[in-house]
Amino acid sequence: MDATATMEDLERLRAETLAAVAACSDLAALEAVRVAALGRNGSVTALLKTLGAVPPEDRKARGAALNALKDAITAAIEARRRVLEDAALDARLAAERIDVTLPPRPSPEGLIHPISRTIEEIVAIFGAMGFTVAEGPDVEDDWLNFGALNIPPHHPARQDHDTFYLPGRTAEGHEKVLRTHTSPVQIRAMLANPPPLRVIAPGRTYRADHDATHSPMFHQVEGLAIDRDITLAHLKGCIVDFLRAFFGIPDLPVRFRASYFPFTEPSMEVDIGWNRRTGELGRGGDWLEILGSGMVHPKVLEAGGIDHRAWQGFAFGMGIERIAMLKHGITDLRPFYESDIRWLRATGFRPDDVASLAAGLSG
Ligand code: PHE
Repeated sequence: MDATATMEDLERLRAETLAAVAACSDLAALEAVRVAALGRNGSVTALLKTLGAVPPEDRKARGAALNALKDAITAAIEARRRVLEDAALDARLAAERIDVTLPPRPSPEGLIHPISRTIEEIVAIFGAMGFTVAEGPDVEDDWLNFGALNIPPHHPARQDHDTFYLPGRTAEGHEKVLRTHTSPVQIRAMLANPPPLRVIAPGRTYRADHDATHSPMFHQVEGLAIDRDITLAHLKGCIVDFLRAFFGIPDLPVRFRASYFPFTEPSMEVDIGWNRRTGELGRGGDWLEILGSGMVHPKVLEAGGIDHRAWQGFAFGMGIERIAMLKHGITDLRPFYESDIRWLRATGFRPDDVASLAAGLSG
């Protein structure tokens, strides 16, 4: 078309172009229509270029008509572009949608080892009685493991403990040992805190002893209470309450039997009632030794920097494997340390199962 194009020609061009715009089903097709009409060599652009050749008296009307044509086409293209863009976005949203209702991938769940679990229970029960947790190192100074506990160098108790001695000396020039019991934490707690004092100290202990019922590494929990007028009655009350809460047997028989430890005076071993034949705890007619205890020896208080004329206290020590095995019917000690995943799955505790931790505490 050129300067001779009639109004009908313009009208046809407009109708054809708008029809082409309406027929576009994607943005690329729409762009092709735009270029064909309004691009540098487009049909409308070509007509605008012929304005100069139109006689001056017709030029104003012609210009207005061509501009109206251009505006109509531009508006139609823009409207169509918005429709196509919205459709493209909808299609993309539909294609890329995430289904949040899919179940999550299963993640492997760990279980709590029965030793850890037993320590948690002991801490919970004594925690309710006002005891806090104290700790000491596995590699111990032999003064703290023995001497400060009134076990002098040639005392026979040193032989009983089958001690692992380590090479080298401590800063104080003492021998290094793997602690044979948690009792050195008594001294550490006394040296670190002024009385009164109520601590329990669970942890690893070591003796050169290995068979079906002994492991060279095992666990104990130590208890220590120091105050101005602590008596044997407090010791008995705490131990009886603990054992009945821990085993969940409100009338569990508990017997205190005179014994000997260098670091307590008087000393008592504590037995609980059970049935030797069935292994059942309670009123079975037999007794099972479960822990050692006594009133803290004056020499031990002095080693801990405490005046034994003003303060006194009780202490106890208990094997953790032993009470864990009794409570849960575990008959062999060795699997505790073998990291056999099948045993751990069968014997471990769910981390979220905290109900029984508090169960024995109410009564
Ligand atoms: N330490 C002793 C042991 O290992 C137990 C004990 C601790 C006894 C505290 C009395 C007081 O056998």
